[in-house]
Amino acid sequence: MNKVVLTGIKPTGIPHIGNYFGAIRPAIEMSNNPEYDGYFFIADYHALNFIKDPNELKELTKLVACTWLACGLDPKKVVFYRQSSVPEVTELNWILNNVTSKGLMNRAHAYKASVDRAISEGKDPDFYVNMGLYCYPILMAADILLYNTKLVPVGLDQKQHVEMARDIAKSFNKTFGYTFVVPSELISEDVAVVPGIDGSNKMSKSHGNVIPLFCSEEELKKYIMSIKTDSTPVGDPKSVECTLFKLYRLFATEQECMKMAAKYQAGIGWAEAKNELFIAANNYLKPMREKYNYYMSHYDEVLAILEAGEKKARKVAKETLQRARTAIGL
Ligand code: ADP
Ligand code: TRP
Repeated sequence: MNKVVLTGIKPTGIPHIGNYFGAIRPAIEMSNNPEYDGYFFIADYHALNFIKDPNELKELTKLVACTWLACGLDPKKVVFYRQSSVPEVTELNWILNNVTSKGLMNRAHAYKASVDRAISEGKDPDFYVNMGLYCYPILMAADILLYNTKLVPVGLDQKQHVEMARDIAKSFNKTFGYTFVVPSELISEDVAVVPGIDGSNKMSKSHGNVIPLFCSEEELKKYIMSIKTDSTPVGDPKSVECTLFKLYRLFATEQECMKMAAKYQAGIGWAEAKNELFIAANNYLKPMREKYNYYMSHYDEVLAILEAGEKKARKVAKETLQRARTAIGL
């Protein structure tokens, strides 16, 4: 039997090129491996913690769904669905609540960060904590266990959540007999962190320093022209450790990078270097952008793809849930 690989993406922002190179592309590459059964979903229940406007939630769900398809997710190979379309996950969530200690949730980084923030502002420690945030890892465990997941590719920030899912699975299996596959996180060490256009180490929507993956050609140019550079004049050699070159490297071939490195050494001006980056990025993104624009204007096709995925997902979800219900005596 193939191993199940599953990952969820929260619809909480416009996808940017950091998300693409750090998460979307590696996950799609993995889904092309015939040894794995891929489950990719849009974690809209989890997004409720961040997005409080129904239209925004709908719009972000649409953007994220179209992005994955434009980037090459093949719905024939992967089960692609919205988390909230498989309500079985909430029943499993409730069942799992009863084998999860409060102490485990007290240790979650996101919860602790909210408490620390409130304390540092002189507020009640729970000021920023609703139960969606507090129980976030249990819903994530339900997402994972429902589909017999073996591997969960995630960024380092999600490692603890997958470890918690593993603890919860073991705790259930110990109490009620073997029911759930015990999952592991898969952290790709070699995925470089994409730097931000402000020159900082990480591009992130929370730092406001992103290049959206699918903006128009004109906007892409504007974003690239606004990348922060130093004041080294034209003619002086430039370091390939700068943001501009790091971004160029993502879009160019090995050979193109070598040529560009020589130009940096020869003192290329920043304006020209930016233009070269724009050309490389635009060439790379153009075919995906076209697909994206197609899906955005044919969202009914995307919804049909999601609905087909949801049927497949629900079938497995129902079987697993039934196993859990039988194990606990319901
Ligand atoms: P953001 O930091 O913009 O809020 P998320 O936390 O929603 O992004 O991340 C979604 C996925 O994209 C995660 O798997 C994360 O590791 C990856 N990711 C985000 N920013 C970067 C980046 N600058 N470089 C590499 N990967 C990134
Ligand atoms: N918590 C993840 C994030 O913030 C999203 C997510 C929800 C997820 N359920 C999941 C990821 C299950 C992997 C597996 O990015």
